[in-house]
Amino acid sequence: MSRAVVLPYFDLLLEALGRGNPVLAAAFGRHVHWGYWPDPGVADGSVADFVAAAERLCVRVCDAGGARDGQRILDVGCGFGGTLMSLNERFSSVELVGLNIDPRQLERARRDVQVRPGNRVDFQEGDACRMPFPDAWFDVVLAIECAFHFESRARFLAEARRVLRPGGRLALCDFVPAPVMAPFVAPSKRMLRAYFERFSGQSDFSTTLDRYRALGREAGLSPVHEEDITRGTLPTYPVVRRVLRELDREVGVAVAGAAAMELASRLGLLRYVILAFDRR
Ligand SMILES: C[S@@+](CC[C@H](N)C(=O)[O-])C[C@H]1O[C@@H](n2cnc3c(N)ncnc32)[C@H](O)[C@@H]1O
Repeated sequence: MSRAVVLPYFDLLLEALGRGNPVLAAAFGRHVHWGYWPDPGVADGSVADFVAAAERLCVRVCDAGGARDGQRILDVGCGFGGTLMSLNERFSSVELVGLNIDPRQLERARRDVQVRPGNRVDFQEGDACRMPFPDAWFDVVLAIECAFHFESRARFLAEARRVLRPGGRLALCDFVPAPVMAPFVAPSKRMLRAYFERFSGQSDFSTTLDRYRALGREAGLSPVHEEDITRGTLPTYPVVRRVLRELDREVGVAVAGAAAMELASRLGLLRYVILAFDRR
């Protein structure tokens, strides 16, 4: 990897995918993020329903980014390339670039993408906080459920602004604490130390929505879209808790961490937001 980023859950996931686990391959073989249900009441708890909801979340963030035909689009923290696959299926004459710090994920993404004629897709290894791209290169930058892993959101936002053309747009989804929760994020993290050390890896859930706006402004980005979709993501948790039992190791800490996130989300202490910013 480009720098010492340790994400144990990807080690576990890649191990399970490597030995052909069909449940994990179905749930997380394309997107490695939560699902979105406009009406959470209709979620049926199946993996197939979750997969459709994960695609819906991806489409919603891409739409918030204003993705369309003919653009040059960067997906930061691109996982197994699911977002670029979705864009490649939906749009024409697009130039799509995926950036990830983990070359093993990129290898899988390169293997699985089926580029449609007229589109271009490229995957590059690199760090969201030190992007290997020229200034003003992209129309849209996306970051789906990954900014909490980055060394610094401020640095990432500054980099996103640098690589966007004037008027270009950054769209992302991320977990933010409710203001009342902010002082308790660090103590909660200490309580869940085993989860962060042995499963989630470096993760920072301390940036409130107000702080995000301020960081955006400081980076030269104007907020243009804010959406709290927490309620629509809640059906993710029962599916993920079940699917995590398919891992070879660390099932206990993984399920405990997911349960803690579910509780905090149900209590309104942890929010799932889609944000978009325009480069001024
Ligand atoms: C929860 S996964 C989301 C993956 C993908 N965006 C998706 O939605 O399927 C988080 C991703 O962020 C990537 N990541 C973590 N730190 C990174 C960094 N500093 N630079 C680039 N990618 C990073 C991880 O390797 C992983 O692919």
